Amino acid sequence: MTDHNHIDQYISAQDIQEMEQGYRANLINCLSGPRAVFLIGTADKDGNSNLAIFNSIIHLGADPPLLGMLSRPDSVERHTLENIRDTGFYTINSIHREILAAAHQCSARYLRTDSEFIKTGLSAEYRPGFHAPYVAASKLRIGMKFLEEKRIEQNQTILIIGQIEYLYLPEGLIDADGNASIFNIEPVVSCGLSTYGLASEHAKLPYAKP
Ligand SMILES: Cc1cc2nc3c(=O)[nH]c(=O)nc-3n(C[C@H](O)[C@H](O)[C@H](O)COP(=O)(O)O)c2cc1C
Repeated sequence: MTDHNHIDQYISAQDIQEMEQGYRANLINCLSGPRAVFLIGTADKDGNSNLAIFNSIIHLGADPPLLGMLSRPDSVERHTLENIRDTGFYTINSIHREILAAAHQCSARYLRTDSEFIKTGLSAEYRPGFHAPYVAASKLRIGMKFLEEKRIEQNQTILIIGQIEYLYLPEGLIDADGNASIFNIEPVVSCGLSTYGLASEHAKLPYAKP
């Protein structure tokens, strides 16, 4: 069996540069390890819904409550990004094992006029006064208001910054200190763009002091 703890492969910056584009994209995307995947729900100005899978959701700060996510460059059609810019709202929805296949299918390049909700059979849920659709099956659902975007000059990717407007999650998930046991909803993580895993709780440690 291969000993994966033994470091015996060296890849230089030049090797990376010379890699075939798709190979390099896969490799580099895997390096930051397992990351939670989410479905991003949006609707265009006419109300046509859209759903896309993202694994770049990051905590940006709690006051105000901000989440960030990275969009690929807008050199081609990006329906999620365009809908967020046009309407100012989007939803972030968790993925569990039962909806993984449908969620992954949302990464396919559908036409602007095709809704991934319809194509994959995932049901959309609308809440009064909120433009963007939620994924009805998701256990954690977050309604977001778009605040600003920042272009990463190195590669033209776009950091989308939004503020939490609504938060829906199962009763009993939040403890007395405010920690939410997200492990209990069995979130799916991805390593890169095609390999998925399940995250489970391993340890709970007290606040570290010097
Ligand atoms: C596991 C996985 C994670 C992804 N994460 C992102 C991401 O963080 N940002 C992004 O722009 N695209 C990401 N994608 C690609 C989008 O899902 C894909 O480009 C999709 O077609 C976008 O749909 P849209 O044009 O409807 O927004 C990911 C794809 C997969 C399979």
